[in-house]
Amino acid sequence: MNVAVLGYGTVGSGVVEVLTKNQDSIDVKAGKEIRIKYILDLRDFPEDPHKDKIIHDFSIISKDTSIGIVVETMGGVHPAYEFVKECLEKGKSVCTSNKELVAKHGAELLSIAKEKKVNFLFEASVGGGIPIIRPLNQSLTADKILEISGILNGTTNYILTKMTQEGLDFHTVLKDAQEKGYAERNPEADIEGYDACRKIAILTSLAYGKQVDYEDIYTEGITGITDLDIKYAKELDASIKIFGMSKITDTGIIAMVAPFLINKAHPLFMVNDVFNGIFVKGNMLGEAMFYGRGAGKLPTASAVVADVVDAAKHEGTTIMTIWSKEKLELAKIDSAKFHRFVRVKDGFHIAGTFGNVQVLKSQAEKERAFLTRPMTEADYQKIASTNDGILSMIRLDFK
Ligand code: HSE
Repeated sequence: MNVAVLGYGTVGSGVVEVLTKNQDSIDVKAGKEIRIKYILDLRDFPEDPHKDKIIHDFSIISKDTSIGIVVETMGGVHPAYEFVKECLEKGKSVCTSNKELVAKHGAELLSIAKEKKVNFLFEASVGGGIPIIRPLNQSLTADKILEISGILNGTTNYILTKMTQEGLDFHTVLKDAQEKGYAERNPEADIEGYDACRKIAILTSLAYGKQVDYEDIYTEGITGITDLDIKYAKELDASIKIFGMSKITDTGIIAMVAPFLINKAHPLFMVNDVFNGIFVKGNMLGEAMFYGRGAGKLPTASAVVADVVDAAKHEGTTIMTIWSKEKLELAKIDSAKFHRFVRVKDGFHIAGTFGNVQVLKSQAEKERAFLTRPMTEADYQKIASTNDGILSMIRLDFK
């Protein structure tokens, strides 16, 4: 089985490393020899042991009928989408780590794969090396999924963990994370929650079998989280984590990305540093947790190569994945009910606006903090937009 790799960056070079280092055991597990024939990249790699496989022209791969599996590790939607679509249409299976591509075009690419009796696999697009796509698609199909809550972004989990452990403010920790290479020079996609948003869109689409457009998912990042918020969290024996969440509620399925205050009983409480954790609740299974490295060269490549093995094992047949182009109707976030942690300036009429609350010990002068009763987004936003003096609000997910 000949393989072509599109993109020789961090993950692409990891895929080549995994396929080379574990060649013998991979061949046994796939039931055939898996060999890399081409590596497509714009750059040359004169010192690389695989330099003879580097090509710059995609059409060589597309036209070569001996290529059965294409690995897409370029990232971004264009030209990844055009390349992947063409490969599938030519009857080649595609394995990708590209969450933007999967979130935007997953349903269409899966339907082309089905028509052509090949596979479009994307285990590495969510949770890096953590198996979560295959479990949702195969192992948990007996269940109705009631909730998925995931720490889906390693960079922001690292930042929040450091803020908690070292009592530092957001900007100091972000700078440190950038210097250590944990955060991108342009960290927007991570800290604003966009990365987690694409990932929860993919998981929700798979859980309910219909297209979730990430543009429809309410998304709030961690840029507003301060060292004072963290201080209150510690006082409560709780911690602040950013979740990608989708949940069946009384008013329908809600999907959102936001920071949450969680207590020690929450299964995701111990997921720290760059690790990811995904909590899934099924109506028969109950609770399950998936934990591991959600990013990084080899963990991500390991998941891509597992897909390559699966594609090789299923040559001539398509592994069934239910993800139709029909749009999943999400419930309006306005109806989502949460207890809330709120900080207000001194003098704010707490009882007159929020009613009965649990007042917390103040951690700073000239402010007060409290936990509200469960209240909808709509009710909270009404108060926030008509009253000055709210300093911060974080939703609670206490188990
Ligand atoms: N920037 C992402 C993260 C990489 O920090 O988790 C993996 O998608």
